[in-house]
Amino acid sequence: MVIVAAGSGQRLGHGIPKARVLCGGLTLLERSLRSVLASGVALEIAVVIPAGDDVLRSVAESLSGAVPVRVVAGGASRAGSVRAGIAALSADAPVILVHDAARALTPPDVFKRVVSRLAAGADAVIPVVPVADTVKTVRGGRVEGTPDRNGLRAVQTPQGFTARLLREAHAGTGAGDPLITDDAMLIEATGTPVVTVEGDPAAFKVTTPLDLMLAETLVQGAGT
Ligand code: CTP
Ligand code: MG
Repeated sequence: MVIVAAGSGQRLGHGIPKARVLCGGLTLLERSLRSVLASGVALEIAVVIPAGDDVLRSVAESLSGAVPVRVVAGGASRAGSVRAGIAALSADAPVILVHDAARALTPPDVFKRVVSRLAAGADAVIPVVPVADTVKTVRGGRVEGTPDRNGLRAVQTPQGFTARLLREAHAGTGAGDPLITDDAMLIEATGTPVVTVEGDPAAFKVTTPLDLMLAETLVQGAGT
């Protein structure tokens, strides 16, 4: 399992790395790690943090136990951070899940669904949820078209892959493309089928101040 937590959190705007921002008194990284550990699916975890971030390093190391947690420094892009995480995992891991620390309230069941689908023979699995808004393609302020919403899904993490497939995808030249926003995109480019499982609304990504308010309300409601 790779948890990427090396982003700067520009859109949240707290002036510190997003994974260090508190939600109900715990850092977003700690909440993500706790939900991964609660799912019971990880044998080892690589946590990718901003270089030199001693706070996040100690958060991650304090949760290392029966499931070893290794901490590594991230890259300038999310894909670079994923690569750093993959490199820190044992070479013999058969499957790898990649998870955004920013999806701090992801229910443990989502991890289980992804792993079950991999165990059932899939090579690449992503959790998805329906899209609530009508989505349009726009260029230069002008609408080009409206894709059928029934065929659209919003994509979450954890995304799961057979380890060899993910390692090869990230070793390829396409992995440096700034338009690559998730790991599944690299697999789609190889023609290997990427299959979906049900995501969960609570696995939303904390991106903006409004998202953090929602996360705070959810943890207060749950008393956690
Ligand atoms: N991430 C990372 N390394 C990067 C960029 C992003 O590990 N160089 C991680 C983030 O820490 C986050 C996840 O990828 O857990 C999803 O990225 P995003 O939500 O975009 O987080 P940030 O890049 O931190 O936020 P922003 O884009 O607003 O700066
Ligand atoms: Mg980002």
